[in-house]
Amino acid sequence: MLCTAADRAGVRRGRRGRQGGQPGEEVERRRRGVLSEKPLEGPKQSGSLAEYTAVEERLLALKPEGLDFAQAASLPLAVQTANGGLESAGLSAGKSVLVLGGAGGVGSLAIQTELNILAQCCSCRGVYGASKVAATASTKKIELLKSLGADVAIDYTKDNFEELPDKYDVVLDAVGQGDKAVKVVKEGGSVVVLTSAVSPPGFRFVVTSNGAVLEKLNPYLESGKVKPLIDLEGPFAFSQVVEAFSYLETGRATGKVVISPIP
Ligand SMILES: NC(=O)c1ccc[n+]([C@@H]2O[C@H](COP(=O)([O-])OP(=O)(O)OC[C@H]3O[C@@H](n4cnc5c(N)ncnc54)[C@H](OP(=O)(O)O)[C@@H]3O)[C@@H](O)[C@H]2O)c1
Repeated sequence: MLCTAADRAGVRRGRRGRQGGQPGEEVERRRRGVLSEKPLEGPKQSGSLAEYTAVEERLLALKPEGLDFAQAASLPLAVQTANGGLESAGLSAGKSVLVLGGAGGVGSLAIQTELNILAQCCSCRGVYGASKVAATASTKKIELLKSLGADVAIDYTKDNFEELPDKYDVVLDAVGQGDKAVKVVKEGGSVVVLTSAVSPPGFRFVVTSNGAVLEKLNPYLESGKVKPLIDLEGPFAFSQVVEAFSYLETGRATGKVVISPIP
């Protein structure tokens, strides 16, 4: 099962590994194996468009029970980016958060992850438990933001978020609006941008994949507290790779674009 970027999910083949995974039939029966790359440490090759791939074991994590391969393949890069970005911004319970680009692959998972962060201490909300979660999207995706758990859904076609009165402890920018984002952060707060350079107090976060992060998030993924969001234009067949990437490049995808399976 394949996905765009460096995300993929599949069945383990080959030698028995340190993590106890078995090759062949048993592994297939267990239907496990979510793979993630570590792009910044110089992989010999990057990308996911292959039926078989060799990967270092430390980059593997078990596929969350209850998710199919398309759902699992949509997660690694995006959920690690959402989680890592929020962690690097110092998100903790009681803080308020704004996600710029809440309907995208990273943003949709960031909204849910924040809720869980904010809930760790409050037992009432999501991975980090924020006191307030706001997010931006265009008009037709406002209800989606709310369904993901956003308290405040800002329609960027109608309102400029930087002109609204609300300020936030953390702003996660998945769109490339870092210079506007620094205008809505509280004093002492953090602006983490994923796409471009930003002036202080903003900073850029770049994900580094690690199977351990997916293992940490596994309870949230298996319980459904954090759910993958797959764009309904897909999953695309392997023969539609060009169309899938063209669609992704429109910048209008809702959640993740998945390519699956290889026939
Ligand atoms: N730094 C890292 O480690 C890292 C890791 C992963 C991804 N990234 C980057 O992070 C960015 C986000 O990735 P992604 O996969 O989430 O992107 P994506 O899924 O392609 O984002 C598409 C979404 O962005 C929304 N959007 C577009 N313009 C917007 C605007 N002005 N305001 C609010 N929402 C807007 C769209 O909603 P509408 O249709 O409503 O506009 C769409 O739902 C990409 O540039 C990606 O390359 C960086």
